[in-house]
Amino acid sequence: MNSILMDVLRGKTTSRPPVWMMRQAGRVLPRYRALRESHTFHELMHDPDLCAQVTLMPVEDLGVDAAILFSDILVIPVAMGASLEWSDHGPVFTNPLAQYDAPSKLIHPDPSRLEYIYHAIDRIIAQRNPDTPLIGFCGAPLTVLCYLLQGVSSKHDFPQAVKFFYSHPQETRRLIDQVVELTIEYALQQVAHGVNAFQIFESHAGLLPEEMYRELFLPAVARIGKALKEKNVPVIFFPKGIGYNLKYITPDMCDFISVDWQTDIVEARRQTDPNIGLQGNMDPRIFYAPKEVIRAKLESYIPFFAAHPNWIFNLGHGVLADTPVEQLKWTVEWIKNTNWNHDKI
Ligand code: CP3
Repeated sequence: MNSILMDVLRGKTTSRPPVWMMRQAGRVLPRYRALRESHTFHELMHDPDLCAQVTLMPVEDLGVDAAILFSDILVIPVAMGASLEWSDHGPVFTNPLAQYDAPSKLIHPDPSRLEYIYHAIDRIIAQRNPDTPLIGFCGAPLTVLCYLLQGVSSKHDFPQAVKFFYSHPQETRRLIDQVVELTIEYALQQVAHGVNAFQIFESHAGLLPEEMYRELFLPAVARIGKALKEKNVPVIFFPKGIGYNLKYITPDMCDFISVDWQTDIVEARRQTDPNIGLQGNMDPRIFYAPKEVIRAKLESYIPFFAAHPNWIFNLGHGVLADTPVEQLKWTVEWIKNTNWNHDKI
């Protein structure tokens, strides 16, 4: 595969950073919005043709260097038996598990409920340009458990889930094991069906005290990362809000860390193991600013890339639904057309 993203993930030095954006599939693209008029999110995920179309759309319409599977991290709670409905405003859990004393007994993992996703991956692999890498993904155990235990939390602080971690430590460990086991099977199936790289989304790493995250949840991420690395698939870990725990992420868990917009990228580089590459971390809200502001931010990454070429351009969290698409296209073009080595000449 002739792919700048795969080259950087494999440790090669390239003339520019690769570019893709979290939440690039769906939400902002006009062609996606048009499809959403006649199909629900659930339909778009479940129909292999539609799923392949939406997955490849950002490569065609934005010019990014990779596709990410169009699906959701919440497919794992669903495959564990959680009652989840997709409303027009997002997911709705009708029976959150934090109200029970032993939720692990209510969970019935059924891997066959994930099979439709593998059919979609087959379709994407058949339809893509062979040089376009496909990124598979899953949620990390803490983030998945937040939804499983509490459902959606309006302020993203998941008080019921955190209360459960403190009040039911044994059950918490059982639930983590259940999520990890199904997630590893799911991740390895994605690999067997042809994904080229894999991202683990921990959107709520900042929810817990650093010590608790490090002791309880980071080892669970490591189990997933190691299983993928054994298959020689590059792993990117996005631990949003992880703070000083960056220091405790080791190269056996992942190859790259996707840095959130809260953290200065130079500081993240200082704290992270030198054998781990970085991805990120432009604030997705910067697209509301005029082009000069965006350009100045992009230019600030040039000396960073010159010093640390193991870097993938991305955002510090997902693209927001009301982002002007023109700004995204312009940013991708800027990254592809800029001379990133002029400091070295
Ligand atoms: O482009 C991509 O990144 C690929 C597809 C993808 C989706 N969700 C599709 C989606 C990915 C990687 C995700 C990950 C995801 N899902 C996360 C982790 C990353 C992050 O953004 O923090 C989380 C926490 C979820 C859970 C989730 N999915 C919520 C809370 C919601 C509703 C609110 C929202 O953000 O829209 C979703 C819905 C969702 N997932 C949509 C899409 C395209 C919107 C569906 C629609 O109405 O069209």
